[in-house]
Amino acid sequence: MMAAVTTNIVNGIPFPVLVDQAKYDALRDFPLRSDDFFLVTHIKSGTTWLQQISKLVKIKGEKTSTKDEDKHIFETCPWFEVIGKEAAMSVPSPRLFKTHLPYHMIPGGDPASSVAKFIYVARNPKDVAVSLYHHSRLLTHCEFDGDWDCFFELFMEGKCEMGSWFDHVSDWWKHRDAKNILFLKYEDMKRDLPAAVMSISKFMGYDLDQATIENIAEQSSFESMKANPLANPQHFEPLKNNFKDTGGNFIRKGIVGDWKNHFNEEQLARFNAEYAKRMAGTGLEYD
Ligand code: A3P
Repeated sequence: MMAAVTTNIVNGIPFPVLVDQAKYDALRDFPLRSDDFFLVTHIKSGTTWLQQISKLVKIKGEKTSTKDEDKHIFETCPWFEVIGKEAAMSVPSPRLFKTHLPYHMIPGGDPASSVAKFIYVARNPKDVAVSLYHHSRLLTHCEFDGDWDCFFELFMEGKCEMGSWFDHVSDWWKHRDAKNILFLKYEDMKRDLPAAVMSISKFMGYDLDQATIENIAEQSSFESMKANPLANPQHFEPLKNNFKDTGGNFIRKGIVGDWKNHFNEEQLARFNAEYAKRMAGTGLEYD
């Protein structure tokens, strides 16, 4: 029998088991505020990276919130649908929330008309698949012990955490020009991190000088984050038991194109055909 990834189905979408339908239902009428920022991704697309950057931007921008420096990113940018309504209500404004919610599941209806603001990061889906494969083997609650070939089939069928990449990304991509949505690409962040930090800080309403931008970029580099327990979900106390003790690291490789080390020719052809079918004409292109 083919190995599977254990998930909870919420509104028909497979979520990490840390989320369930009742928890999500309670969030449907969650009142959003004009100084709320949601850090959104499908999954394995740079969420944690965005949490670290946004945390630092907020600290430097607010000037008053330096006590946040010693807090884990999951405290300063908690995971909205995992902490649930009560805990989310108690987060002080201005609030930063991590979320994997699809466009149509954001509380309050159409995000493009929301008072809140959204930063979305998309990543080459082939790299997402590879990253999610390693993630699914590392996280105990995924209960996945299959190999890459097995995971590839699950990814193609959307039977992994957060389901179809195509559905998630294309819905947010369609609204990328809304004034309260900043759409970023992982690959652009890799190419020029200070430029990404600058656009995030401007979008968050902070006018940071170049030295501060460079400093945030330095503290958000792959190497810095890997060495910093406060920037790694694996070192967040409430999540510690969710990781297998295999030596694997959540901050794993952080490169563009790791898919080339995993996809065989047949998988590549099938994936590219599916991409063309689902994304043709959208203007979102990946190699
Ligand atoms: P890999 O598994 O390809 O290494 P998310 O936070 O959405 O779960 O995404 C995790 C992916 O982002 C992992 O990809 C992780 O290594 C990568 N990542 C985390 N911090 C990063 C950084 N500072 N620079 C580049 N990639 C980073």
